[in-house]
Amino acid sequence: MLTDKDRIFTNIYGMADRSLKGAQSRGAWDGTADIIGKGRDWIINEVKASGLRGRGGAGFPTGLKWSFMPKESDGRPSYLVVNADESEPGTCKDREIMRHDPHLFIEGCLIASFAMNANTCYIYIRGEYIREREAMQIAIDEAYDAGLLGKNACGSGWDMDVYLHHGAGAYICGEETALLESLEGRKGMPRLKPPFPANTGLYGAPTTVNNVESIAVVPTILRRGGAWFAGFGRENNAGTKLFAISGHVENPCVVEEAMSIPLQELLERHCGGVRGGWKNLKTVIPGGSSVRCLPHTICDEAIMDFDWLRGQGSGLGTAAVIVMDQNTDIIKAIWRLSKFYKHESCGQCTPCREGTGWMMRVMDRLVTGDAEVEEIDMLLDVTKQVEGHTICALGDAAAWPIQGLIQHYRNEIEDRIKHKRTGRVSAVAAE
Ligand code: NAI
Ligand code: SF4
Repeated sequence: MLTDKDRIFTNIYGMADRSLKGAQSRGAWDGTADIIGKGRDWIINEVKASGLRGRGGAGFPTGLKWSFMPKESDGRPSYLVVNADESEPGTCKDREIMRHDPHLFIEGCLIASFAMNANTCYIYIRGEYIREREAMQIAIDEAYDAGLLGKNACGSGWDMDVYLHHGAGAYICGEETALLESLEGRKGMPRLKPPFPANTGLYGAPTTVNNVESIAVVPTILRRGGAWFAGFGRENNAGTKLFAISGHVENPCVVEEAMSIPLQELLERHCGGVRGGWKNLKTVIPGGSSVRCLPHTICDEAIMDFDWLRGQGSGLGTAAVIVMDQNTDIIKAIWRLSKFYKHESCGQCTPCREGTGWMMRVMDRLVTGDAEVEEIDMLLDVTKQVEGHTICALGDAAAWPIQGLIQHYRNEIEDRIKHKRTGRVSAVAAE
């Protein structure tokens, strides 16, 4: 269990002053030049020692990712690009950092850029995050005025510029290579990987794309030491983590907790528990919409980290915990996600373009009970043809929620088909 003194984000609820002065009084920008003075290898090794895994969803080890960047320039510049296009349904943790603790994040941009030999950092912020980009721009301007960014940033001897770039509302622009395309001024369409951005990224130059939270925790890790961060959670699942909890809990919230906290403890300690009590829980989607749901029988023992959830066929993803109680129409809930992925597919690869539409149309009929029982297995088969056969992870993301539905709630689907419970369903059809 985390106590207040362990928390990195001390202003996540916006109760304190978010200006530079306020942030400095809480420890931001403390000794930044000294940290930079310790050199690139020290910083990267310390981040590796911390066990930090990417907080955008995939959980790739951050220090390892940074080490892929060239140490010496081959004539091309290096870039840090921060993915602030937080669009995964249920996910709103980076929003709170940018609103209320922007200076920790900007300090992280400087340190990470230095560690990767980058003089330029682009922050690609979700278009709908209007208040957040205002808060970010104010904080960036404050940092420039105070000499913390720009030439000889912080007196460190390193020159670093930060640019805030606004997205325009496409979910796919949160995929790192689509984001780079968009940043370059083109339509946001994912690129084939490899090459990975560390080799050929923005404008064909070495680029690291990191999530906001991954960057914002770095200054505190370096001040307190990698071993301190690694002391939370379980092996290979280290650190503190922001969880965004929504749905049928008494008090939805964003909270920083230790990685590997049991799900039940997380909900009861911070959210007042499940609406109607733990026994009223039906399912949880533990990592944003792009993972398979967990039935309540598994929730009793669920551990909130990358490896435990993956072992159950689900995932920590963005740690957006979507809670659904017994009153939830789970078929309708997953149908809504199918509609979302169909809408957000960029359409450049056939399994995703055709498959998302196909899956959504079958889901349309499952929700109304107007399908044949045999279509359930046919739908499952289609999800497997989409999964793993597309350029980017959106294809998997569209397939997995449906697979979770069929795996855990097949009886409900069959029941609906058999009994044609059209009362609740007519409202869906009308939407
Ligand atoms: P990925 O596993 O392909 O890559 C993760 C990161 O590691 C990338 O930055 C990639 O460049 C790097 N990487 C992986 N293998 C590498 C290698 N061999 N060499 C060099 N670099 C390598 O995952 P992806 O597609 O970037 O992210 C998928 C996740 O994104 C999903 O799990 C989902 O949870 C999450 N997501 C988050 C959203 C949000 O709003 N935060 C929105 C949608 C999805
Ligand atoms: Fe576009 Fe879908 Fe292919 Fe991703 S999987 S590149 S979103 S068509």
